[in-house]
Amino acid sequence: MPEKIIIDTDPGIDDAMAIFFAMSSPELELLGLTTTFGNVSVERATENALHLVEIAGISIPVAIGEAVPFVQAPLPFPDFVHGADGFGNLNLPQPKGQPIELGAAEFIIKTVLQNPHEITLIAIGPLGNLARALELEPRIAKLVKRVVIMGGTVLESGNVSPVAEANIYSDPHAADAVFRADWTVHMVGLDVTHKVTLMNDLQRRIRDHNSIFGQFLFDAGRFYADFYQSSRGTEGCYMHDASAIAYAINPNLFDVVNGPVRVATEGFAKGQTILKRTDYSYPENHWDIVTDACVCMGVDESGVLALYEKAMVGS
Ligand code: RIB
Ligand code: CA
Repeated sequence: MPEKIIIDTDPGIDDAMAIFFAMSSPELELLGLTTTFGNVSVERATENALHLVEIAGISIPVAIGEAVPFVQAPLPFPDFVHGADGFGNLNLPQPKGQPIELGAAEFIIKTVLQNPHEITLIAIGPLGNLARALELEPRIAKLVKRVVIMGGTVLESGNVSPVAEANIYSDPHAADAVFRADWTVHMVGLDVTHKVTLMNDLQRRIRDHNSIFGQFLFDAGRFYADFYQSSRGTEGCYMHDASAIAYAINPNLFDVVNGPVRVATEGFAKGQTILKRTDYSYPENHWDIVTDACVCMGVDESGVLALYEKAMVGS
């Protein structure tokens, strides 16, 4: 039986890759998309999610989520990474579809309560929707099947500060609430996504062999590829969000460390995901009240890329 998933997303070009990857994988059954601010505004993220559903030619619910961080002031959107429209400035026409009436948190709660222990939440943007769902219905912590997030970093340098990754940095209070909840967060962070590079030649192969998603992903990905070329000098992009999908499909491709994670919510370390890696009992006991997370620290890059290529190209 395919695993039922909800993807919480701020599309975003690598979000599009991840969502199409999930749609193309028989191991997963995508029940819906919930949207959040992050790469773009939540309004634009919702339009973009509706575009992705339209391109795929399927009918699944899209639910609108959090527009701003839980506590901190909103940050400018990183239009230099994904373009002002989130899809490399393709400036697509309005999508035909509409979001559902239910909000993102309510959709998550309703789906989890109606399918106890069967729903995996895969969050590939800031974590406000998951935090809101926990706030409204704490029982979901023990009723989900799994929680997988793309976010955070432990030993790898951050991408918005030396210690912080973008999804966590965008809403550190929500992220800390998600890590503090009584569930196991499976964290796919920069420690592994910076070890998986989606080279431009694979993106060209997907363009040439995938008649549904290929051309859109290639066209939307040009701006993103240019950002990587100019900022990192690489002929390809880090596989951030799609690595979370690969983890959901085959966690054996990853090496993990288990331990409690807290998130710094203020000061110059804001957004840092701090993993307690010893059993030592510290006077500062902020980690003692937290359920262990499962943090990815190593990855089989070729295995992840092969999984993605098999789903997107068919070989
Ligand atoms: O740090 C990478 C993450 O931030 C990805 O989810 C990307 O889409 C952006 O949201
Ligand atoms: Ca994202």
